[in-house]
Amino acid sequence: MGQKDWRVHNPSGSKRVIVTKELPGTRWLDILTRSGCKVEICTSTDVLSVDEIKAAMGTQCDAALGQLTEDWGDPLFSALKAAGATAYSNVAVGYNNVDVDAATKHGIPVGNTPGVLTETTAQMAVALTFAAARRTGEAERFLRAGKYKGWLMTLFLGELLWRKTVGVIGAGRIGATYARMMVEGHKMNLLYHDVYPNKDLENYIAAYADFLKSQGEAPVSCKRVETLEDLLAEADCVSIHTVLDESTHHLINADRLAVMKENAVLVNTSRGPVVDEAALVSHCRKHPDFRAGLDVFEDEPALKPGLNELDNVVIVPHIASATRWTREGMATLAACNVAGILSGYPAWNKPDILSFLEEESPKAAPSIVNAEALGIPLF
Ligand code: DGY
Repeated sequence: MGQKDWRVHNPSGSKRVIVTKELPGTRWLDILTRSGCKVEICTSTDVLSVDEIKAAMGTQCDAALGQLTEDWGDPLFSALKAAGATAYSNVAVGYNNVDVDAATKHGIPVGNTPGVLTETTAQMAVALTFAAARRTGEAERFLRAGKYKGWLMTLFLGELLWRKTVGVIGAGRIGATYARMMVEGHKMNLLYHDVYPNKDLENYIAAYADFLKSQGEAPVSCKRVETLEDLLAEADCVSIHTVLDESTHHLINADRLAVMKENAVLVNTSRGPVVDEAALVSHCRKHPDFRAGLDVFEDEPALKPGLNELDNVVIVPHIASATRWTREGMATLAACNVAGILSGYPAWNKPDILSFLEEESPKAAPSIVNAEALGIPLF
């Protein structure tokens, strides 16, 4: 691995912050420079190794902004601590790449970027659902290959999801937003599986069902199911919105795929290893009417053998949160996390995280996942 280039902003800043990838927009950089930071940004698109990040920290570093593709475990947090740093933020809402216990052990607050990915990611899950159900990838490849010789009644017949059943695994912010998009937009009945009930979602859908009835339309329903199998057996499309941890690794495996309808759609915008990708390849091979839409992969960026050849799978390269507003928002929140901690601010403890995107952001660090464990005061 060759030497990576780093670009320096505000060289006279008194606190040194390393940023392991280029980030979109300029607001995040203004926030850091206004907080007196010299900001060093790696301009390479290669994933940095632990050693490369350690080398970039050197012997003096006050904070780091890292990526979900990097392994932020004990070796990096102990190096960060040794370099005198007091803050880290992942530029992502998910932080399965971060060993939060190790960071806490070294006294380093860990930030993430919730709240700005919700609608963007849910929309991509919707897009993948319909791209898979309506076979847009296959159809586009066919057309571009010059195979379209005229309209045919039998060309690319897909699945109509209108008024069918949508299954959501994990009804947190993104899962619940996807659920509402599918229920409101396509009048689907909802089954969801989550360790916690989502009463707001249930109440919303009950109110929406009443509204539909008041319009003379058939209502929709919402049910939290006890077992994943109950959901998989009944749903016409299933979208995964869980975190990745030991309990969700290969949550969707060969046995669970076998429970699903033969013409169901499975969508994953969470983390690749939640699905046993080899089992999915084999399932999709055996069941050509089964369809999958994937934004994330088990060995990202690599695909499991065979996945790339399957016509019944739609694949995109982990872009579910890739709208300009969201990605700039993620960068802004990550910068506010680090700038907030470096400025000695408390950790934000209110729902309205979007106030950090406004010109005058609150004097707090927007999202510090180990704030309580570190005894950081809450705002
Ligand atoms: C995240 O922030 O965790 C997302 O996966 C990025 O798209």
